Amino acid sequence: MNYPATGYHHITACAGAAQEDVDFFTGIVGQRLAKQTVLMDGRFPHYHLYYSNANIEPGSIMTTFPYSRIQGRRGSGQVQSITYTVAPGTLAFWQRHFGRHKVEHGPVQERFGQRFIRFHHPVGMAFEVMEDKSDKRAGWSTPEIGESEAVRGFYGTVLSVRDVTEQEKFLIEALGFRKTGVDGSYHRFEIGSGGANKTLILVHEPDRAPGSWSFGAGTVHHIALWVADDEAMAAQKAIYEELGYTDASEIKDRYYFHSMYVRSPGGILVECCCNVPGGFEKDEPADKLGTKLHLPPWFEHRRQEILATLEPIVAPETATARA
Ligand SMILES: [Fe+2]
Repeated sequence: MNYPATGYHHITACAGAAQEDVDFFTGIVGQRLAKQTVLMDGRFPHYHLYYSNANIEPGSIMTTFPYSRIQGRRGSGQVQSITYTVAPGTLAFWQRHFGRHKVEHGPVQERFGQRFIRFHHPVGMAFEVMEDKSDKRAGWSTPEIGESEAVRGFYGTVLSVRDVTEQEKFLIEALGFRKTGVDGSYHRFEIGSGGANKTLILVHEPDRAPGSWSFGAGTVHHIALWVADDEAMAAQKAIYEELGYTDASEIKDRYYFHSMYVRSPGGILVECCCNVPGGFEKDEPADKLGTKLHLPPWFEHRRQEILATLEPIVAPETATARA
């Protein structure tokens, strides 16, 4: 069977304060701020901030809802960690960088033979920089992080599950991943050509209490996989329905792309999304991306009300589009 999903598109987490989040992703992780918009569901305005590598490639896009209104609870059935690739030999740089900025981080560890350092967002979500020699995507550079050290995009995610069996079945039968290894409590799955941007790891934590499913600061809300177009999206929805995952959502218009969501058996929310014409350049040109807040057309009539409730944010000039 041909499966539509090709790898990651974006990963979305709930941060705390907006400025703290901008400072973390642009200054500590060193991504560019690619888009400022708002959460498109619910009654209360929240930012939706998009960070990415130099070319805003699918599979490098980290997005956040700064959500200080409600605290989330981390646990099983959630993304435990999000892994970025970096060039081999750069972990010493990252250790110094985290130390200099007093970012909570651990020692160099290894998983499936690859070295990584885990570090934490100010509200607690875990991220990793992992050495990967085959990933050649272009990272974004900052005054402190050169092109040679920059994060290039996602390697993948580590998802915590209390039981592996049903989540494994979902990954393989509904999305087309294949199982490529077990390392202690870690189970590795890859899609397509595998490796960077095409890897998902389950960590088996049978005794870990479930984390929250709702939006809440300090938790990762969902992962999003990329499919080619609306036709591929419809094909993915048909696969879910054929297998009995009938709670897959309708296909939603997220303005910059189209999205569909399904709650996977281990508890993690999995989105599939596809490009729409224009993409992130629908409402601002390439050389202005990320420089100001954009609302989707159906929220424009609420602009004043929305702006009044959002904390102003300032992004470093070096973090937004370069002409
Ligand atoms: Fe999403």
